[in-house]
Amino acid sequence: MNSSRRSAARNVVVGVGGGIAAYKACALVRHFTEAGHNVHVVPTESALRFVGAATFEALSGNPVHTSVFESIPDVLHVKLGQQADLVIIAPATADLMARAAQGRSDDLLTGTLLTARCPVLFAPAMHTEMWEHAATRANVATLRARGATVLEPARGRLTGKDTGAGRLPEPDEIGTFGDLLLSRADALPRDLEGRTVVVSAGGTREALDPVRYLTNRSSGKQGYALARVAAQRGATVTLIAGNTMGLADPAAVDVVRIGSARELQAAMSEHARTADLVVMAAAVADYRPGEVAATKLKKDADGHSAALETVTMIENPDVLAGLVAARARGELAARSVIVGFAAETGDADCTVLDYGRAKLKRKGCDLLVLNAVGDGRAFEVDENAGWLLGADGSEAALSLDSKTVMASRILDAAVAQIGAPR
Ligand code: CTP
Repeated sequence: MNSSRRSAARNVVVGVGGGIAAYKACALVRHFTEAGHNVHVVPTESALRFVGAATFEALSGNPVHTSVFESIPDVLHVKLGQQADLVIIAPATADLMARAAQGRSDDLLTGTLLTARCPVLFAPAMHTEMWEHAATRANVATLRARGATVLEPARGRLTGKDTGAGRLPEPDEIGTFGDLLLSRADALPRDLEGRTVVVSAGGTREALDPVRYLTNRSSGKQGYALARVAAQRGATVTLIAGNTMGLADPAAVDVVRIGSARELQAAMSEHARTADLVVMAAAVADYRPGEVAATKLKKDADGHSAALETVTMIENPDVLAGLVAARARGELAARSVIVGFAAETGDADCTVLDYGRAKLKRKGCDLLVLNAVGDGRAFEVDENAGWLLGADGSEAALSLDSKTVMASRILDAAVAQIGAPR
């Protein structure tokens, strides 16, 4: 688990369907055991054709069964289901979801699903045609209507040479949603279905010459978490990604890569035009070198470079303020919500909150996520804390939690404002 905080031990059942992605369930099991949870793996018979029971037993530290006729005195399907705090099915094959949607109980895993009363998370993996088939669509709708969370699969390379929607999201990403369900104890809402969301994330890079650039300490993790959670709440999401130190693309999100603040500005104005929600989580360089050298800036014979010793900087556009102004001119949807971020340190004159309130006014956005930085807080780490300030004067503290939980809370506030009169 990425998080430095270990949560209280919970009972997690990892159900494994019979698909090639079954091997990725091994990393998912580790995600939960390393967090200190008690994990039981329940594979289907066909899952065991891909990964052996010994692997799952070694990784989970618990015995592995597939049938209700094993360990009969324990009445396993009842015990596992009743004791579970979370059931995750990964990979959830088309057949497994069909059986779950029908309420069948023809093996230990489907029996466990019927006895479980905790959050249930399906992470589907199958070929695009199977995922898009009307039967699967209906089964997914049924499972969601009954309160299960069914993740959107990732797009990309499938088993063969084909690509499309149907890839299993990465184990860490599935694990993150499992952690979220353990903390919320209810399904992920689909309240962004039919909505378009644009999120910027990471640091901009301002070139000095073909080799060097100036950037900042933003890792992009909070913006990526926002894009990831918005997509799984049903939104069509575009992530405008700057420098992120190699974060994996979130499942079911279109990623547009940018370098400089001006590239970010161009991408944002293009994609924000029709968006319901615009989130500026990117750390934008306020200034850029006035000149970008066409060739590498070299040191002279004395070992000095006048060009590098004195770099003249010029101001970058304020992308967030520009988006707010564009909305006022009618160039963005009037119903849209614009969220800004602020990373502040307090000083002798003002507190972090004072600076945040002033920034919210100056930028004119609807919501501002305010983080106190310094001493290893906010940047590059997996957890975050701060305040959510609203243009309507509302102020809510965001207690220290994972960036996924934080994303979820920010989206709760933003969803409540979409369509509000401005
Ligand atoms: N932002 C932006 N364009 C800029 C600078 C910042 O769109 N040129 C956005 C950021 O994405 C963030 C918000 O404005 O959502 C606040 O960023 P921050 O760097 O804290 O604010 P600045 O305007 O740069 O103010 P200062 O550095 O003086 O605190």
